[in-house]
Amino acid sequence: MRIPTTLTTDRLVLRPWHDDDADFAFDLYSRWEVARYLGRTPAVMTEPAEAERRIARLRALEDDLRVFRVVELADGTPVGTVMLQPIPASGPEPLRPSGDTEIGWHFHPDHWGHVYAAEAARALLTAALADLPRVVAVTYPENAASQRVCERIGMRRLGPSDAYYNVRMELFEALAAEEIRPDTPPEGS
Ligand SMILES: CC(C)(COP(=O)(O)OP(=O)(O)OC[C@H]1O[C@@H](n2cnc3c(N)ncnc32)[C@H](O)[C@@H]1OP(=O)(O)O)[C@@H](O)C(=O)NCCC(=O)NCCS
Repeated sequence: MRIPTTLTTDRLVLRPWHDDDADFAFDLYSRWEVARYLGRTPAVMTEPAEAERRIARLRALEDDLRVFRVVELADGTPVGTVMLQPIPASGPEPLRPSGDTEIGWHFHPDHWGHVYAAEAARALLTAALADLPRVVAVTYPENAASQRVCERIGMRRLGPSDAYYNVRMELFEALAAEEIRPDTPPEGS
């Protein structure tokens, strides 16, 4: 998958993680309102050193199948993060790759409500579908905000699914054969 190192949208820049993003990463992932819907066992970060380790891990993991980007405003303020990665199939542990790629987004609560998540996700999804036939997203059933991001960027809701992570999630998909929904101007910005 060939994703440009930097993607730009009308209001946002999607760029790789830097070591000096650790303060931002800790501020983001130490908040329960962000962490509560992430991963199979949601947990907040409790120490700044965890943020440094996470950034180092993401940078090392980045390859043809995995993309991790910080989303920042034009003035350089980081507001969130978006990613593409192989999604594991449900089954016996350790989970095996399903062959599908998932897209995800985590934004700082100070910057929710500006449609930044949808704008960044649309740019990454569009770039991914230039190379991949299908991209999926999974959300916890109660994560209405993330489901709205999926719908806003034109992903199709397939309903509850046990296909991935051994967890029942709400499943969305986007197919390369279909057109990504064009941007609509956010209200009040
Ligand atoms: C998911 C997340 C990125 C959305 O951020 P956001 O700033 O609200 O996103 P956007 O502004 O792009 O818009 C999201 C849409 O969700 C809606 N929304 C926001 N919060 C909502 C809520 N609590 N309930 C229902 N809808 C909500 C917005 O109105 C908007 O809908 P619209 O397209 O009809 O206008 C943010 O809530 C977040 O980072 N959550 C924590 C991490 C997370 O859960 N990531 C996803 C894991 S699957």
